[in-house]
Amino acid sequence: MARDGAVYVCQACGSAQSKWGGQCAGCGAWNTLVEETKVSPPGAMAPSRGARARGLAFSGLADAAPPPARIATGVEEFDRVCGGGVVPGSAILLGGDPGVGKSTLLMQVAGHAARRGVACAYISGEEAVEQVRGRSQRMGLGDAPVKLAAETSLREILDGLKREPFDLVVIDSIQTLWSDAHEAGPGSVTQVRAAVGELVRLAKKRGLAVILVGHVTKEGAIAGPRVVEHMVDAVFAFEGERGYPFRILRGAKNRFGATDEIGVFEMGDAGLAEVKNPSALFLNTSGERAAGAAVFAGIEGSRPVLVEFQALVAPSAYGTPRRAVVGWDSGRLAMVLAVLEARCGLRFGDRDVYLNVAGGLRISEPAADLAAAAALASSALDEALPQDCVVFGEISLSGEIRAVSRMDSRLKEAAKLGFRRMLGPADAESASAPLRVTGETRLSEAVRRIGEADWS
Ligand code: TYD
Ligand code: MG
Repeated sequence: MARDGAVYVCQACGSAQSKWGGQCAGCGAWNTLVEETKVSPPGAMAPSRGARARGLAFSGLADAAPPPARIATGVEEFDRVCGGGVVPGSAILLGGDPGVGKSTLLMQVAGHAARRGVACAYISGEEAVEQVRGRSQRMGLGDAPVKLAAETSLREILDGLKREPFDLVVIDSIQTLWSDAHEAGPGSVTQVRAAVGELVRLAKKRGLAVILVGHVTKEGAIAGPRVVEHMVDAVFAFEGERGYPFRILRGAKNRFGATDEIGVFEMGDAGLAEVKNPSALFLNTSGERAAGAAVFAGIEGSRPVLVEFQALVAPSAYGTPRRAVVGWDSGRLAMVLAVLEARCGLRFGDRDVYLNVAGGLRISEPAADLAAAAALASSALDEALPQDCVVFGEISLSGEIRAVSRMDSRLKEAAKLGFRRMLGPADAESASAPLRVTGETRLSEAVRRIGEADWS
């Protein structure tokens, strides 16, 4: 029997049950139910009575006051992902693997903003003040007027933030906070939800921008209930492949800007350096382009980014051929392989296929289909693409090459980086660009060109 007032809360989905069980009835996850004390939800109040209740006051779309000016933190890649600066009174949740550089990024943001006169606080529940200070000094931000504190008690933090008029507050991380109003331990669903709720309320009330660090689970989701993602105004992910210095800040949700924008950084000895021209970074411009490589002219957010697709097609040593892909969708790879087999006469049934996006970038655009197909065909036919050729285009199941968005910006960026040819959809021929455009409507024709090295 459950103790009086006890409730079992699923740590994965946040649903509450009166009895303990091995499996959550809400989401089906195993071993996720943890006993927590029942609390009345914030909205559960007595119905208002008497003459004081006036109900909702409506206003029109046109009455709205102009939005408050955004805080430009001075870290431009961060501001870009926010949609042009941090909005006062908003809450941002930043997730990322341990050690990817979340604390480093936010110290950089707070430090640069503080130097520009923004009142900043950095509250760490994971590190001592000396550690945070030491890191900021290594990053060359030792003189920035950021107020530091090491604290995990939500009550102390709220009191501290109410005493001083801050503009921007970093809380590292929400999993370390605990509120004495709840019995559950730090990091539990109840505590995380309560802490985020209180901080978001404070942010809205005082026009304070709050940036919260959230740990991620093994699957890459922010640990704690999904409701937390609904409570904040923006959710960002900080990503990086192990072994590469590049870090990418990506918006997953943003009430104040586009979510397809990315910020690119490079981790160095003195913190994160902003990468203003990502194309040059992801591209291996030195040396000959080998068979199996194709340069994709992509668009990430508002910026064109050139990146190399690398494929290796090799005889399979075992019965079942391997398909391994890094930086691209494996379902998409299966589709491109099927189209190459069915429409272009290439055979992959007894061959291992490896596909890799260079530099640790993750590509999700359909426009990358043709770049992947070109890399695969180039490896299978052992014929390199011209050194100065970029590729883009979407592939349909019928083997057609389709036009993609913003072809002129892709071509311009490629021209800027010294590329002189392009293989892509036929419609690209009309896009004004100083490149020699080889437009094809059918994938089989593009594969023939690669096989015969016919670039006339
Ligand atoms: P950190 O910001 O502590 O990661 P997180 O908060 O996401 O867990 O960054 C940790 C890593 O960053 C660590 O492996 C060291 C590296 N790093 C640098 O390479 N250069 C630097 O200047 C700093 C501050 C960190
Ligand atoms: Mg950290």
